[in-house]
Amino acid sequence: MTWTDASADPKANGANCYNCHEIDRKEISYGTIGPSLWNYGKLRGVKDVADPNTAAIVQYTWGKLWNSKAYSACSNMPRFGHMKLLNEDQLRHVMALLLDPKSPVNQ
Ligand code: HEC
Repeated sequence: MTWTDASADPKANGANCYNCHEIDRKEISYGTIGPSLWNYGKLRGVKDVADPNTAAIVQYTWGKLWNSKAYSACSNMPRFGHMKLLNEDQLRHVMALLLDPKSPVNQ
């Protein structure tokens, strides 16, 4: 929503996570108002969905992305699902980026 990079899907909405978070170490330009998300899933011990700890992290992360203000009324983070900035499919991709052990974020 900030930059004008061409997208294959003209309806695609960027989520500008990098304005506030470090995510992949290969990207060196990012804001620091939010915590670093580098190794997000790895640091929280995400394994597979049958693991109760992993299920709790998946639920927390989905809720945070959907409506950050449900966790902190004064959150500076956009409410991506609630405000329809990202659709469910896009949010699933973001979840995989943050949580999948095979994601570059968790290497
Ligand atoms: C305008 C700044 C901003 C943007 C844009 C933003 N965030 Fe955040 N985010 C924050 C802040 C600040 C926090 C710290 C907690 C809070 O204030 O809600 C946070 C917290 C988080 C957390 C919780 C971290 C933890 O350890 O509990 C996750 C996960 C997260 N952001 C993911 C994302 C993702 C993914 C995107 C893009 C889709 C994004 N954020 C976009 C500011 C932002």
